[in-house]
Amino acid sequence: MTTTPVLAPTREELSNLLSGARREGRPIGLVPTMGALHEGHASLVREARARVGDGPVVVSVFVNPMQFGAGEDLDRYPRTLDADLEVCAREGVDVVFAPSVEEVYPGGDPMVTVEPGPLADVLEGRSRPGHFRGVLTVVAKLLGLVRPDVAVFGQKDYQQLALVRRMVADLCLGVDVVGAETVREAGGLALSSRNRYLDEEQRVEALALSRALLAAQEAAAYGLGPALDAARAELRAAKTVDLDYLEVTTPDLGPLPDPVPAGTEARVLVAARVGTTRLIDNMPLVLGNPDGAHDQQGER
Ligand code: PAF
Repeated sequence: MTTTPVLAPTREELSNLLSGARREGRPIGLVPTMGALHEGHASLVREARARVGDGPVVVSVFVNPMQFGAGEDLDRYPRTLDADLEVCAREGVDVVFAPSVEEVYPGGDPMVTVEPGPLADVLEGRSRPGHFRGVLTVVAKLLGLVRPDVAVFGQKDYQQLALVRRMVADLCLGVDVVGAETVREAGGLALSSRNRYLDEEQRVEALALSRALLAAQEAAAYGLGPALDAARAELRAAKTVDLDYLEVTTPDLGPLPDPVPAGTEARVLVAARVGTTRLIDNMPLVLGNPDGAHDQQGER
């Protein structure tokens, strides 16, 4: 069954559309996106719906200039509002908040921004300085505008999810942050709006990322070194994959203890360029636990 979501391009329309639910005490769910919606986003909407029941689910569609660095793909980032509205209709979204840049940043860049702290200096943050300041600033604004009870983010952007959780806890923002599992194509490629930049050949090469993570999962039983070696071997075999980083961290993105005790839960994260497209992916691991070698399916 499809319902037509109401499009709210302004803060005022958004606020009017949510006032009834607020008055009646119905919970509000938010799925923040940059549009170009795919099945991964649809699964976030379903997660939000499961949490709020008959309360409204809001999807925000906003390509946030503040989180793109110089030379990144802000201009070519896909903008597909009509198709996004169709996905939202299919998924029973109530409100699509699709503001202009001026609506979100009236008068230009904000004077006050969210300082993401040291967690933003590693992994994605090292390669994309300023990225997480932009992400957290816009997420804080969206939380302020929608005032949701629940906000759903994908685990594919694992560092983003960790930072949003941290911001919400450290700044007492009073919203339940839910991390939804990554949705993958049959071959394992994590769904991403940027996959549409890949041609057929690159799409095949890009499978090396998820293969590398699975290889790390399999070898993790034998320790950190074997896990990294197995993943690197997969990535090396894909000639056009230009690796940015491959790292194993604690589940909250800290450094692993040395030595690593058997049974340590961890996360393996990868970023690489395939042609001009930068892709990221991650999976959970358990290190040094041979008995659990075939028990790490987490996100397959
Ligand atoms: O993950 C995204 O699509 C964006 O980073 C987000 C959370 C919508 C903020 O612009």
